[in-house]
Amino acid sequence: MNKGNNNVSESTINRLPRYRRYLKELEQQGITKVSSNELGEQLGYTPSQVRQDLNRFGAFGRQGYGYSIKTLHENIDEILGLNQKYKMIVVGAGNLGQAISRYAYYQDKSFEVSALFDTNTALVGTEAGTLPIYALDDVSDYIRENNIDIGIICIPKEPAQAVADIIIDAGIKAIWNFAPTDLNVPENFPIKNVHLSDSLQTLTYQMKI
Ligand code: NAI
Repeated sequence: MNKGNNNVSESTINRLPRYRRYLKELEQQGITKVSSNELGEQLGYTPSQVRQDLNRFGAFGRQGYGYSIKTLHENIDEILGLNQKYKMIVVGAGNLGQAISRYAYYQDKSFEVSALFDTNTALVGTEAGTLPIYALDDVSDYIRENNIDIGIICIPKEPAQAVADIIIDAGIKAIWNFAPTDLNVPENFPIKNVHLSDSLQTLTYQMKI
């Protein structure tokens, strides 16, 4: 299979988690193979779109057999980089930070939050579920000492850029940003801005048509 991600378009990458979710469901039901027709029907894509997507990363279905679900699942995990563990921290131990730390920790074994960081002295030294909440001042040392991969930013927009700069300087490899602002990061630095309100606003647009 094609291990380089360079040939896979962003729109294909964005569809992969949906394929993966459905394949996982089929695997859990003990099903071992699936056709592009079935995949397309379930996910609302045309069979040729499915074949094109899967061919792009080197998964070729056999005529009359379809795709091996196990192989497809493994290929998608490899493309997405999910065949390894990621260590994560959350900056901002408020409502959202605590909810996300619980969610990410339990949902998928590839991701593990090990600590939260906050500036509020009333929170520092306490725990969020089973996870410790440390002072923001300690975040750089913690990232270096524990080789943290992903920083999850759950703080107000005003301090978000300064916090992003600190954790990038400390060697964080990617940022999942929930602060309501677009952060400046070095070129090609992996960052995803997640704004639930964007989705809500496009939902209300759909209600108008
Ligand atoms: P919250 O007020 O419950 O928590 C914010 C936490 O950040 C507080 O504990 C505060 O002490 C801490 N904090 C402030 N400045 C800090 C800094 N420089 N370093 C470390 N910690 C710091 O607020 P909530 O509800 O958890 O929301 C957090 C942020 O996420 C807000 O900016 C909110 O607008 C945003 N948000 C974004 C969503 C999204 O879809 N992207 C959804 C919900 C909230």
